[in-house]
Amino acid sequence: AQDLATVSALIAEHRDQPGALLPLLHAVQDALGHVPDDVVPAIARALGLSRAEVHGVITYYHFFRREAPGRQVVQVCRAEACQACGGEELLALAERVLGCERHSTRADGAVTLEPVYCLGLCASSPAVQIGEKLHARVTPARLQSLLAHVAD
Ligand code: FES
Repeated sequence: AQDLATVSALIAEHRDQPGALLPLLHAVQDALGHVPDDVVPAIARALGLSRAEVHGVITYYHFFRREAPGRQVVQVCRAEACQACGGEELLALAERVLGCERHSTRADGAVTLEPVYCLGLCASSPAVQIGEKLHARVTPARLQSLLAHVAD
């Protein structure tokens, strides 16, 4: 109910702007950490869209989460510049160190591991974000130490 109240306020803020859906979904994820399935009907109704349309947009963009994330979120960039500098290797390393597969939250809820598509640090790739903090030119050794205490 708390989530629905938050979402109603965000709907009121965004509904009259053109192309409201994406900004609204971003605002919902900022506020709740994810876009829960049970707020989809209210969003669809407010914007005059079908539930399937809203759901389609949420699942199309990897950025949106449908489940609440773990206590810490680790994001490893998989876009082109980072990919060329070992992004995939870092992601695989993060999976091993955290004991958590990409696109998932570890069973104890401590951490969510997400591939992301550009963190805006392409010139100093590869990039990783842990919580709110961005890290550039991340080597495997550095990632290992950054992750050492993430999911304690
Ligand atoms: Fe990784 Fe832009 S491609 S930060």
